[in-house]
Amino acid sequence: TRPLKVALLGCGVVGSEVARIMTTQAADLAARIGAPVELAGVAVRRPDRVREGIAPELVTTDATALVKRGDLDVVVEVIGGIEPARTLITTAFAHGASVVSANKALLAQDGAALHAAAEEHGKDLYYEAAVAGAIPLIRPLRESLAGDKVNRVLGIVNGTTNFILDKMDSTGAGYQEALDEATALGYAEADPTADVEGFDAAAKAAILAGIAFHTRVRLDDVHREGMTEVTAADFASAREMGCTIKLLAICERAADGGSVTARVHPAMIPLIHPLASVRGAYNAVFVESDAAGQLMFYGPGAGGAPTASAVLGDLVAVCRNRLSQTTGPGESAYAALPVSPMGEV
Ligand code: HSE
Repeated sequence: TRPLKVALLGCGVVGSEVARIMTTQAADLAARIGAPVELAGVAVRRPDRVREGIAPELVTTDATALVKRGDLDVVVEVIGGIEPARTLITTAFAHGASVVSANKALLAQDGAALHAAAEEHGKDLYYEAAVAGAIPLIRPLRESLAGDKVNRVLGIVNGTTNFILDKMDSTGAGYQEALDEATALGYAEADPTADVEGFDAAAKAAILAGIAFHTRVRLDDVHREGMTEVTAADFASAREMGCTIKLLAICERAADGGSVTARVHPAMIPLIHPLASVRGAYNAVFVESDAAGQLMFYGPGAGGAPTASAVLGDLVAVCRNRLSQTTGPGESAYAALPVSPMGEV
């Protein structure tokens, strides 16, 4: 069988792990897919940086030329952000490749248009890594639970804020003190706005709500409130009520089944709820459905290797689809359930 050609866009923390696993696990991946996978090119911004295990002749700064090659089977996009990722992805479809992306911001904003572009060209768009790193969520919701009716999804989908809130809860620290520790340990970025103001969680909520309810939810539809106002006193009163406080992404189907809401805000959770025991920078998503009842998905929501795990899983699935000349569920799987602009808080 001919090797499947894969291009990598971005070679940072996640991309370099993807390349490493593609090399070290090449035989296993080939066996699972039914054909070898070959790294055909790696687009980077800074070519001078040493990239262990990647042949220098594969490295290019011209991502556009790479996706236009015309002989690629899969393009893996781990650049992040809206542009140039969006244009590169649509160009890849137009030139015959399927796409695996880890880009939550882009999928939350333009998921519908990207799915439509994939479908127009008969290609796949998979993005398991866009929500909660290694935790399988997109495909379980989109495929394993496709015969069930999901009613509610409650998620701790931001590790940085969960670390901070956990610290406040377990030590009595204030917000600033806990944030400083998260920064010192490398969880929080120098500018923590996207995490602490809930933007990162809101993008993930939009993607999860769309997948869980087979509709389209955009970032703008998600009501968002950050966790910067939560105080040590709030934790003390929560404790008195047998609760803790978590930053939750809450995606719900209205009781009449006619609409969907998605929101992110700090919420009290009873200590006996499984989400209350999610410590540190871990993520967890609690799903309630008609037939399955209650499910919880738990694991590392960020980091190079965990995120690469999700990317590689998608890569295997997309490669299998290529070989059997089929595609996974696309835009036509989505009914048009209306989205209420703001959930009842
Ligand atoms: N900043 C994110 C988090 C990284 O803390 O969870 C994963 O998207």
